[in-house]
Amino acid sequence: MVRRWGPIDLDDDLRIRPATGDDVVDVAGVHAAAWGRDGPSPADLARAIDLLQRPHPTFEPGDMTVVEERATGRLLSVQHLSIHRWTYGGVGIDVGEIEHVSTVPDARRGGLVRAQTELMHRWASERGLVATVINGIPWLYTKFGYELSLEKWWGPSVSADELPVAPIPVNLRPANSPEDLDVVARAYAHGAAELLVAYERNAPHWRYENVRSDDNPWRRDLLVAEVDHEPIGFALAVPEDRFDEIRQVDALELLPGVEWRAHLPGLLDGLLRTTERAEPIEGLNLGWLGRGHPAERAHPDLLTLAPHTRRGAWYVRVPDPVGFLQAVAPALERRLADSNLSGAKGTLRIQQWDGTSVAIDYDRSEIHVRPWQPRDMFDGDLRVAGGLLAQIVLGYRSVEQLYESHVYRITATQAASEAVPVLFPTGRSHILPVY
Ligand SMILES: CC(C)(COP(=O)(O)OP(=O)(O)OC[C@H]1O[C@@H](n2cnc3c(N)ncnc32)[C@H](O)[C@@H]1OP(=O)(O)O)[C@@H](O)C(=O)NCCC(=O)NCCS
Repeated sequence: MVRRWGPIDLDDDLRIRPATGDDVVDVAGVHAAAWGRDGPSPADLARAIDLLQRPHPTFEPGDMTVVEERATGRLLSVQHLSIHRWTYGGVGIDVGEIEHVSTVPDARRGGLVRAQTELMHRWASERGLVATVINGIPWLYTKFGYELSLEKWWGPSVSADELPVAPIPVNLRPANSPEDLDVVARAYAHGAAELLVAYERNAPHWRYENVRSDDNPWRRDLLVAEVDHEPIGFALAVPEDRFDEIRQVDALELLPGVEWRAHLPGLLDGLLRTTERAEPIEGLNLGWLGRGHPAERAHPDLLTLAPHTRRGAWYVRVPDPVGFLQAVAPALERRLADSNLSGAKGTLRIQQWDGTSVAIDYDRSEIHVRPWQPRDMFDGDLRVAGGLLAQIVLGYRSVEQLYESHVYRITATQAASEAVPVLFPTGRSHILPVY
């Protein structure tokens, strides 16, 4: 369903309006200008075409805003909102992602991104999205209530020189048929089952991997991995014609029961051994896989975390922690039931010095989340500020880690030290959006 909304005047000269298919060249032009290119590149155009003129599984054109000069029709700024489904401890939650944020140089620092972001936050709340996230440049988005709260790009790399001869050869071929895509979906779901927070991918998402425009920078090779013509898993990697020396691999998963240790060298070899390239590949960048992926656990000798690998984190904004925790309460209840707190009755009161405070009542394996009003700044079991709550709730950091890194932005009582690790254990998460 395409959402309908009309132009909104920002002042006498400027207005925000929804982008349409007719804006492709101008939208691409804003991105090009924002990044200092002379005019839209084929990649700028392909991205805009795929978003605005073709069906997309996580985006519809009404969710792209453009800021336009009313007198001339010139576009000055653009960004868009995609809708994703994540799982939190196995429970589905809807999340928005603000993407492709650009303002042309001569219109910067005029509040254009702020105005569009505030509009998208309003949409997010109207549509019941429990969080919005941004895969964005350092620091800027803290201005809009975001905190770096989920790991991104921490995965290892592999050097072609160091790869041993694979004991089991693995063949990689395009995943095209419904049967292939079923293998991909099953292997992905198997990998996601061990994650705290994961991106839920459905059949249209996998089909979309095969239909992006050739020049779209998000085009990937979706590959089924086989041994003796039997599928063992899949890989999602930058296509052979699209990288220089290092090939980026976004996903690599095996079907249940397939051994990582035995098959990883063959998989890596398959990703390095390409057919279309004249030049050999120097190595693989598995950054998107994140830290602690089963491949890394099976072969820490092969996969190394280079000290200067690009690392990052997702900016996350959870404007209504009560709503968020209510949405994921079934996951909290499962954690409680599996813990030494099962059978106990209590309340974890979380004071957010700069936001909504919340109480979590637990009774045996039942959870009730409610807003809570602290008496003073010392009230509560866990007291946090500055977006730290999202880091704890998403399992990105423990209270102890935050004590070390954010002195004076967090305090916890003994009761919190017992309940928080049960309700919010730290662990691996992996978000692989469909762009
Ligand atoms: C980053 C960018 C999108 C900001 O757009 P903009 O329309 O100038 O942003 P706004 O005027 O709405 O500013 C939003 C906030 O960020 C601050 N800000 C923006 N650019 C900044 C900069 N370069 N340095 C410091 N602060 C900056 C503003 O002061 C403002 O904060 P305030 O409302 O508290 O004053 C724009 O500079 C750009 O297109 N840069 C190149 C492309 C890019 O980096 N895109 C982001 C990819 S994730």
